[in-house]
Amino acid sequence: MRFDILTLHPAMVAGPLEHSILRRARDAGVLEIAVHDIRDHGLGRHRQVDDTPYGGGAGMVLRADVVAAAIEQVRTDDSRVVLLTPSGDRFDQRRAEQLREVEHLVLVCGHYEGIDARIADWIDATLSIGDYVLTGGELPALVVVEAVARLVPGVLGNAESAADESFSRPGLEYPQYTRPRTWQGREVPEVLLSGHHGAIAAWRQAAAEEVTARTRPDLLEPETLLAALAVPVDRGEAQS
Ligand code: ADE
Repeated sequence: MRFDILTLHPAMVAGPLEHSILRRARDAGVLEIAVHDIRDHGLGRHRQVDDTPYGGGAGMVLRADVVAAAIEQVRTDDSRVVLLTPSGDRFDQRRAEQLREVEHLVLVCGHYEGIDARIADWIDATLSIGDYVLTGGELPALVVVEAVARLVPGVLGNAESAADESFSRPGLEYPQYTRPRTWQGREVPEVLLSGHHGAIAAWRQAAAEEVTARTRPDLLEPETLLAALAVPVDRGEAQS
């Protein structure tokens, strides 16, 4: 899979792509990721990329012609062009799974007060990583690359498999423990030392549901939530 990231701040994006699993996948040729400076398409001696808003108001607006030129330089027939903006559709694991199927993802990082609205015809989708406003789309673009890339076959090793983890199934992950067995008076749950795979699986399931019920009850079906909270499930019998 190929990613092209269009930004006014290439250095802000480049660093995290040089480390850990993304670095390894790029070296192995499983992922191609390139970062492009939108300013290369800026106008005139000062490579101007923005201007004051028509109608007045604070801040500067990125010019549509400049951003469109940057998109056109990388776009092919197989590309999906995504703009990162706080007003975009909410990005989540389901969107990451959809984007994994795309051959070529072009991520456009917005900045300043936004981009001239006429860019819309160059954009296939908009994404927001949450209900808060960052200074630009650079960190959101990295979040999307991370979440999508790790779903691409060959990016994670078997040991890091993405199959059995939070959000790929309902609910959060169970707590994990490693050595030492006792640390500062805190013990590893006895069942994890028992060697009984069935008992361990059951404990993990219950522990995962308990964690989810406490921190993200919205992820659980009502029945699972009630069971995790140890409240008898109401099966609709007569009430007094
Ligand atoms: N740009 C600024 N804030 C953002 C957000 N929350 N998501 C995506 N892009 C953004």
